[in-house]
Amino acid sequence: MRSPIPDYLAEALSSVESDESGAMADYIPELAAANPDRLAVALCTEDGRLYSQGDADVAFSIQSISKPFVYALALADSGFDEVMAKVSVEPSGDAFNEISFEDGTGRPLNPMINAGAITAHTLAGPRDATPTERTSRIIDGLSAFAGRHLSVDEGVYESEISTAYRNRALANMLRANDIIDGEPLDAVVGYTRQCALLVTVEDLALMAATLANRGVNPLTGAPVVSALVVRQVLSVMATCGMYDGAGHWMTNVGIPAKSGVAGGLIGALPGQAGIATFSPRLDEHGNSVRGVDLFRRFTSEMGMHLMEVPPPGPSVVRGRELVGTGDQAVQILSLQGRIRFAGAERVLRDLENDPLTQKRVAISLERVATVGPVARRMLLEAVRRLTLDGHDVYLIDPDGALPDPDPGDGGRVTVVSERLGITE
Ligand code: DON
Repeated sequence: MRSPIPDYLAEALSSVESDESGAMADYIPELAAANPDRLAVALCTEDGRLYSQGDADVAFSIQSISKPFVYALALADSGFDEVMAKVSVEPSGDAFNEISFEDGTGRPLNPMINAGAITAHTLAGPRDATPTERTSRIIDGLSAFAGRHLSVDEGVYESEISTAYRNRALANMLRANDIIDGEPLDAVVGYTRQCALLVTVEDLALMAATLANRGVNPLTGAPVVSALVVRQVLSVMATCGMYDGAGHWMTNVGIPAKSGVAGGLIGALPGQAGIATFSPRLDEHGNSVRGVDLFRRFTSEMGMHLMEVPPPGPSVVRGRELVGTGDQAVQILSLQGRIRFAGAERVLRDLENDPLTQKRVAISLERVATVGPVARRMLLEAVRRLTLDGHDVYLIDPDGALPDPDPGDGGRVTVVSERLGITE
């Protein structure tokens, strides 16, 4: 069978193709000269399958889509405390290039607006890096997200740096506020080079999929940043990634996202996929008109809104059974599915409301796919309490769904890989 996903993506592109509204970014002369009709989409699953349609091999400059990735590198290299001291995480409600700083601290309000992004640029790489070393670290880091070496479009860089008066003003203010060290112009030069990196929608979908996949590039397998860094970055993308359009974006589309003035747009759906679109005409917030439309469509047709959860599946508690007789009888509580906090709570509730009656009891994880870290602790506490209540406790866990099964203080459990291990 041929997968219907490419057909679906092609059809989505044709549904927005005739929309010529919006305007090209004209404050960077080179961008104003780009072909406004380009249109492309790519989707990369969290296990690395890439689908794309339209002008998928056309390269364009990454622009502000570099910001979440550089913020990730800054967090990884300088640590959360240092980065938070210099850039806050509050939505500004302002345009991307607004000259706005937090009262009292002089910090930029978030790393998605230019002031915050220029600051994040200075926090990536080692503290004593030269401007050139820092920019190289950033290019290498973004390349690791993309799974291939990215290079700077020198024409776009020259075009932007020669007119970057506003970003220079921002960098000078940041220096005056003691937020960045060193020469402000170096920060603007490095930031402008970062924005001029050439990408295709396929690169961007893979970069977004790396965020969706807890910081591990799903194609190369390279761990680029930690899961904790990804959590921070996706949270900031969700609240600030679409600038003064962020509230409408989050309510209508509901995916952590980032746009760029060259017409790129990415969305990262945690645990599922990265999506990228390319269409250069922009709305009044600087976001791609047809890109926003495509994402709206994907959200409603593919159920991607983060706040929309699937209806509850079958209960984690699958049932109970009694095997064997007399002293050898074992009461087995069978669990199923993916167990997180709410599922583990169901197990604890079940054990409290309807206590196990045999001396020998077993919890079966034979049909359990995964046990989250919190659920693991809750289940082990159940084991500990069952031991303290006088039970001999077994865990039937053929696939090792519950790692390191140590119930701690006073608890005891015998782990077996099949039922026969306790019933015979
Ligand atoms: O700093 C700038 O103005 C550009 N290099 C990036 C702006 C941008 O992409 C805004 N996003 N939509």
